[in-house]
Amino acid sequence: MSKETLTVTDNRTGRQYEIPLTHGNIRTMDLRQIKEDAEDFGVMGYDPAFLNTASCQSNITFIDGDKGILRYRGYPIEELAENCTFLEVAYLLLNKELPTAAQLQEWVDLVKHHTMIHESTKTFLEGFRYDSHPMSMLISSVAALSTIYHDARNIADPIVRRRNVVRLIGKMPTIAAYAYRHSLGYPYVYPDNDLSYTENFMNMLWRMVEPKYVANPILARALDILFILHADHEQNCSTNVMRSVGSSQADPFVSTAAAAAALSGPLHGGANEEVLRMLDEIGTRDNVRAFVDKVKAGHGKLMGFGHRVYKNYDPRARIIKWTAEQVFQVTGKNPKLEIALELEKIALDDEYFVKRKLYPNVDFYSGIIYQAMGFDPAMFTVLFAIPRTVGWLAQWEELIADPEQKIARPRQVYLGQGERHFVPMEKRAAQRVSA
Ligand code: CMC
Repeated sequence: MSKETLTVTDNRTGRQYEIPLTHGNIRTMDLRQIKEDAEDFGVMGYDPAFLNTASCQSNITFIDGDKGILRYRGYPIEELAENCTFLEVAYLLLNKELPTAAQLQEWVDLVKHHTMIHESTKTFLEGFRYDSHPMSMLISSVAALSTIYHDARNIADPIVRRRNVVRLIGKMPTIAAYAYRHSLGYPYVYPDNDLSYTENFMNMLWRMVEPKYVANPILARALDILFILHADHEQNCSTNVMRSVGSSQADPFVSTAAAAAALSGPLHGGANEEVLRMLDEIGTRDNVRAFVDKVKAGHGKLMGFGHRVYKNYDPRARIIKWTAEQVFQVTGKNPKLEIALELEKIALDDEYFVKRKLYPNVDFYSGIIYQAMGFDPAMFTVLFAIPRTVGWLAQWEELIADPEQKIARPRQVYLGQGERHFVPMEKRAAQRVSA
């Protein structure tokens, strides 16, 4: 029988070490015993951007990037998107199992119970300048919730933890909608708990003077599917931030705000906004080839293409493409779709993209749908943040319950100056300082 170990030879000393493999991986702490001499600190793993380092063991989301597989708690994303509501999937992510009808009803009622925000949070939002970016308003307002729910600091109590998880899931759409209406100068619309999670979000976004908002069922379902697809994606940049900030035992509101800040960057969730800017820049189908050539020559990136993990078609992009067709039957085709399809066709056929395994990711088509629904591109990343909050919180709860986790604190490889001694100002020679 084969042994679940790795034998490492240190060629500096000739010594051999037997390192255990668990689930096929080594613990990098086991490398520390490999020393040149007693003074030596020991070998570490050097892995900028975590290309090959697992920071946790998780039971939530599985991705096989080479095969284009995504599963939440074992269920394929395609089956969840086809059969579930977003809150049902949220329940699954947080509670490990799909709910029964009674459990779902109780869960939906609980979330709805927490959709209102404190009037002081509303006043806080009112203080933002008229042209503030909705994502910046969202990040700041989520952090500001921490000023209201003081119990959230008690992260050791599972009941308190879960109460604040539900608060965040309930309030996220309310804050997002208020940020949107703030940027338009419209009065805020209070939640309507007769409606589903996504219908209520649409109500808070778009209700004007009508006494009751009635959502188009196809658009509400499309938004629900988009929320399901964005709910979790294992250890991505923002989830890593959630876990990292959470590991210091900060409360879930500030931890979620930090995760949302990470999401806002154009290489992460901010990419959906950038895709629309790129399609605007391309302008017409005829310009696609020239744009792709520019990217290949090193001028910018094809936004909405490429992924750290997926080296195959992103399964979420496939479902989004299908959802787009449903939405366009209601809204009419977004003229950007033609450009996007041409871009995808050319890129998927081009040696540069094929060699690097660059496929459309979740952000490539989502923005086109959001725009057809009437959202301004500045809102797109906010629409990503609402459902991802569930994933962040599921990962945060898993972190807190994991006895192996400690405060996150990476090592570094120091390459700077050795010790040197202070030089008085009058004796210092001018040095060229590089940026
Ligand atoms: N357009 C053109 N070239 C690209 C692109 C792109 N979108 N993405 C990667 N490359 C090239 C990159 O220049 C590099 O080429 P070379 O080997 O010649 O240096 C090669 O492909 C490998 O790229 P990388 O930068 O090492 O890949 P990464 O895993 O570090 O980055 C990524 C992943 C998603 C940040 C990157 O593909 C990217 O910037 N894409 C555009 C932004 C985007 O769409 N982000 C959304 C990601 S999906 C949603 C989410 O999870 O947030």
